[in-house]
Amino acid sequence: MSQQQHTSDHGGQGSNVAKRAEQRWAFVAVLMLILFVGLAAGAGIHYMVMPQARVETTDPRTVAITGEFVESNLGSVAEPDGSVTVRALGQRYSFTPSCIVVPAQTPVRLRATSADVIHGILIEGTNVNTMLIPGYVSSITMQFRESGEHLMPCQEFCSVGHEGMWGKVRVIDKAAFTAAAAKAKRVTCAEQ
Ligand code: CUA
Repeated sequence: MSQQQHTSDHGGQGSNVAKRAEQRWAFVAVLMLILFVGLAAGAGIHYMVMPQARVETTDPRTVAITGEFVESNLGSVAEPDGSVTVRALGQRYSFTPSCIVVPAQTPVRLRATSADVIHGILIEGTNVNTMLIPGYVSSITMQFRESGEHLMPCQEFCSVGHEGMWGKVRVIDKAAFTAAAAKAKRVTCAEQ
């Protein structure tokens, strides 16, 4: 009887061990499932909430102090290929530079970002309309047919000073721009 009892106990322990191991592995499998579902959901949501201009990133905390968007690097620059690059920074509540000068009949690439909150650049009379999102570089190409001035309001509500956040784009004759670009690396409205 005692021997039988012992055998039966032994068998019970063995199935308990097996059961515990099974539970452990089931737990691991469930954990893995949760992990994979979490990863898939996280990646999907991350992708969906990313702005269109997600290719290039900046650090809004240092964007005005170091790198491409320091003040000395903002404005219009003639590129060797004949195009023009404009770099601009939006911050509460202005654009730097507040007046952008570009040549007519020339491909212009605008590269811009924000140093604080979300702003937007809209160039009146054109289809140029892009958000400036802190941490991301917005890059947009444009070409103006004729010289003239366009207002450039901030088109994203960015708090109390939003209504006063305006810039402008001055389109000048291509030859005049080329002449100005030959004299200074950056062409500004002040000289035009
Ligand atoms: Cu900046 Cu609205």
